Amino acid sequence: LMNKVTIVGSINLDTTLYLQRVPEPGETIRIQKLITSGGGKGANQAIAAQRLGAKVAFIGAVGTDDVGQQMLNLLRAAAINVDGIAQLADHTTGQAFITVDEQGENRIMINAGANTAFTPEQVRQSQPLITTSDFLIAQFETELKSTLEAFSLAKKAGVKTILNPAPAIASIPPELLALTDIIVPNETEAEILTGVHVYDEKSAQLAATKLADSGVSIVVITLGKAGVYYQTASQQGLIPALRVKAIDTTAAGDTFIGALASVLQPDFSNLTEALLFGNQASAITVQRLGAQDAIPFKDEITPD
Ligand code: RIB
Ligand code: NA
Repeated sequence: LMNKVTIVGSINLDTTLYLQRVPEPGETIRIQKLITSGGGKGANQAIAAQRLGAKVAFIGAVGTDDVGQQMLNLLRAAAINVDGIAQLADHTTGQAFITVDEQGENRIMINAGANTAFTPEQVRQSQPLITTSDFLIAQFETELKSTLEAFSLAKKAGVKTILNPAPAIASIPPELLALTDIIVPNETEAEILTGVHVYDEKSAQLAATKLADSGVSIVVITLGKAGVYYQTASQQGLIPALRVKAIDTTAAGDTFIGALASVLQPDFSNLTEALLFGNQASAITVQRLGAQDAIPFKDEITPD
């Protein structure tokens, strides 16, 4: 049985520059390679969920520009339901400009465009997509009020909600946390949200407890090379990361979340297996260039 996953989120065209190091102020350097790829945390998560076995619908917005048409085509070609994506004439399609240095470290600059222009009304028009889902996922590259609307429609219909609080914000409105079943921050986001310096199992546990106290039932903190920490009312633990050589970590977190939503039982009974699957999928993404271009298909993941 396939999970049905709906994403409320961002769609970007990513332009990535690979370089030895970022230039100093006033300095000019040559880059080694330039690529473009479909991106945006929402769209990346949608592609990941679809490639890894879910039936996926998307709610969001692009502009009426060529880039928007291109990004829409990518999602449509992946057999993602794009009925909930508005094409807004007065806005440009979102774009991200990314540098990746020799250490594999990325820096991302975003022109949000249409991503922050779609409204709670538009979310309401897509209500049937939400209420017929197993999981609803959102991030913070779109407007909070639209996410809130989507999560409250989901909750009323018994749909499980996954919040990826990325990019980080200092505090999440309590009403959104109250509607969240699973929160999935990375170490930096967990730190910004809780004030706890997160870098290992113990510090992750401290941060997770703070997040759980705000009413979220499952906390999953991705720790990069240190693995994934998870905590529910009845269990907790650290799932170690696979040891791979990362060349571009862009969309690794998105792959993890899409993978999780594609295989997790809606009653969460296979949580640790689903997290392991997410780890395996994101370990592939970090070994490839780009965002959506790097995300693996189900048959690339070998059971261990
Ligand atoms: O999470 C990675 C994504 O963040 C990139 O694809 C970029 O578009 C930004 O939204
Ligand atoms: Na990548």
